[in-house]
Amino acid sequence: MELIALFPGSFDPFTLGHLAVAELGLEMFDGLLVGIGVNASKQGLLDPERRAELIREVFTGEPRVEVVLYEGLTGDLCRERSIRHILRGLRNSTDFEYERDMEMANAMVFPELSTVAIFTPAEFIPVSSRLVREIITMGGDPAKFLPRGIDIKKYL
Ligand code: PNS
Repeated sequence: MELIALFPGSFDPFTLGHLAVAELGLEMFDGLLVGIGVNASKQGLLDPERRAELIREVFTGEPRVEVVLYEGLTGDLCRERSIRHILRGLRNSTDFEYERDMEMANAMVFPELSTVAIFTPAEFIPVSSRLVREIITMGGDPAKFLPRGIDIKKYL
């Protein structure tokens, strides 16, 4: 049986840091379901469908990665897809505290779930979607924080 992990996030947008975590995840799992959590009350920079298209472009030719949008609880998506592992990246202690709380909440509501946290490689620690959004909204070029070849203007 294939071991698939859910890699959930807002991915607004998907960055080089996310890519590094996904690539490490692909070394551990047979495949990844990248789940874009849509919060209808929270306006992001990229439309969720555009975020999905960007991620699909990044993984063109990689059949082990599937990208979906979801609303509601991450654990419910895992149950729908019979997935028992959640993959998340950790950059620093702030991420750790957040992920620890999220892992505990998920494990209480969905006891079959476990979260696998991967340390983001050091070179990507300063990279965040928030930083990329800031650069974009202030008219800069965020290309060096995005996966190679991604032209963010196509997705805005
Ligand atoms: O990249 P982000 O913004 O940290 O991703 C956050 C996301 C979408 C993974 C998180 O907000 C989430 O899991 N939302 C769904 C709500 C949920 O399942 N909470 C756990 C309670 S049991």
